[in-house]
Amino acid sequence: MVQVFRLGYVHFGTPNLARMVKYYSDVLGFSVTHQDASSAYVSTSIDHHNVVLTADERPGIKGFGLQLRPGISAAGAAAELESAGIPATVRTNALRGIQELVEFTDVDGYTVHLFPEMQGVEHGFKAHGVGPNKVGHLSVRVKDAERSVEYYKQFGFINTDWIEDFFGFMTCNRDHHVLNFCTSDRKEMHHMALELRDYSHLIRSMDELGRNGIPILWGPSRHGAGHNIATYHRDPDGNMIELFTDADIYVPELGIFEPRPWHENFPQKPRVWGTDECITRWGTSFEQSLV
Ligand SMILES: [Fe+2]
Repeated sequence: MVQVFRLGYVHFGTPNLARMVKYYSDVLGFSVTHQDASSAYVSTSIDHHNVVLTADERPGIKGFGLQLRPGISAAGAAAELESAGIPATVRTNALRGIQELVEFTDVDGYTVHLFPEMQGVEHGFKAHGVGPNKVGHLSVRVKDAERSVEYYKQFGFINTDWIEDFFGFMTCNRDHHVLNFCTSDRKEMHHMALELRDYSHLIRSMDELGRNGIPILWGPSRHGAGHNIATYHRDPDGNMIELFTDADIYVPELGIFEPRPWHENFPQKPRVWGTDECITRWGTSFEQSLV
């Protein structure tokens, strides 16, 4: 089956496009690469887009895009999906910055794009706002996390950790997780996470949120699975956004995470975590529950 190697973008609907563009541009420090009356494309640094915003009565995730490993065409990917029993459509210029992509609906009904190439931009990072390295991972609520984990293995994803049996972590590269699946009665995004450079960047980002009157819901604290130091807040539409740094690096050749002083095990291998030990390694109390 076709293999992917990174999360390219997340697509949101929004009832207030201008407000969301202002949040991404002014607060998060993304560059706006295109904007019209019904859509906006924003980029962290070199991609045409990492978040797509489309005017819609209903806020929330509309889908996400995964980039295919080099050498796989959209037509080739569509043929492989079809032969695996997954109806797929090749779409041309369906999104700006991507000439061809394959669209399919995953096991939970999420719209997924697989794309071979995205147009680049040369502006790099903006001088103001949070300015994350990248969209690090996406966490979605699904009917059965174990089913979703098995489903995404066919695209090259590896299961790195679990919280009990309801929250599965998966990677398609060396990041601890690129996609998360959380068993839930609701079909919606759990959170989208933006990777920061280091602790000081995270603290400066908290100041940025504070200046903009955006309250921090949770954190900062260090998680168990992934060991990322994380904070969470809500965007203007209420979507939960994580800012994190220091996430584990997976070494698939060895089946371990690169050693870090704060690990519990040496070597640290993928494992099943209890909920409380996984949510915070610092024992910090928070009013907001994350699961
Ligand atoms: Fe996360």
